[in-house]
Amino acid sequence: MTVISKPAEQVRPPTAQLRTLLAPIASLLRWFLQANKKVARRLKPRLSPGDVDMYNKYDALVASYASEAPTPVIVDVGGGKHCSFAHLVPRDGSLRIVGVDISEQELAYNDLVDEKRVGDATKSLPLADGEAGMIVSRTLVEHLADVDAFVANTSRALAPGGYTVHLVPGRYSLFALAARAVPFPLAKRILHVLRPEMKGIVEFPVFYDRCYWTALHDVFRDHGLEVVHAEVTYSQADYFDAFLPAYLACATFEAIVGALGARQLAAYVLIAAAKPRNESSDDPIDEPAVRAGSSTN
Ligand SMILES: C[S@@+](CC[C@H](N)C(=O)[O-])C[C@H]1O[C@@H](n2cnc3c(N)ncnc32)[C@H](O)[C@@H]1O
Repeated sequence: MTVISKPAEQVRPPTAQLRTLLAPIASLLRWFLQANKKVARRLKPRLSPGDVDMYNKYDALVASYASEAPTPVIVDVGGGKHCSFAHLVPRDGSLRIVGVDISEQELAYNDLVDEKRVGDATKSLPLADGEAGMIVSRTLVEHLADVDAFVANTSRALAPGGYTVHLVPGRYSLFALAARAVPFPLAKRILHVLRPEMKGIVEFPVFYDRCYWTALHDVFRDHGLEVVHAEVTYSQADYFDAFLPAYLACATFEAIVGALGARQLAAYVLIAAAKPRNESSDDPIDEPAVRAGSSTN
């Protein structure tokens, strides 16, 4: 007798089955999030009329101080994959941009810097004493567990008359409070679903040590650096644009703290400090003639 065995049924792994089951829900969710973002974009000019792009302002500020740097070395700490101001500074060999990052893998993608150095900004910033004409960072400081140590290293590595410029997300912004209210891997996953464009940008653990107006002023002063420029933006509702009720609540928060001038609660602080030219002289440090609307403390 010939026994004909039934062909083995193709068994799909449970995760693949689950994915198939959830696919319609996922596409509905994507549609919902996109629809919310569309409405938020339409409302934005009315809800946040004074919104400024702090990222562009940071680049312009770095470029304006670059022309006054006492040594032709600009250090982009936590530079990662990209150097946002590279196109605004001379690229004729008269200035060198040095990218410093704790992660060799991040730096490997960065082809905008002239030199790459791997190091932890809070331990031994890989720079000789007085080597740098400028030390700058964009969205690095919130990732440092010890900002005091970073500023001490900065002060050591800056040449007299050098500048340090930082764009710092605020500790008491709604997005920072949300990020710290839940474990970081979960916060990151949620943000990546709501704002997929943040993949590759919001990836690193956050501490928000000293990341607010007065603490930043204090830490620079404590290390002999004079704050020469500081400004804030309250604008942050974009982080919540995938869910309209949260977007509206955040825009209301922005409007209230903005009207009160509550700088401790700002979304971002853009701050620049200078190392005195000569420790024995009282030479004031000049601020280059740019930047309307800035304020120093
Ligand atoms: C949010 S990314 C910002 C990258 C880049 N500055 C930008 O704006 O596109 C933060 C970067 O800081 C780096 N970083 C985190 N902790 C650091 C530390 N202790 N020392 C040096 N770099 C650090 C990360 O590896 C990452 O590349």
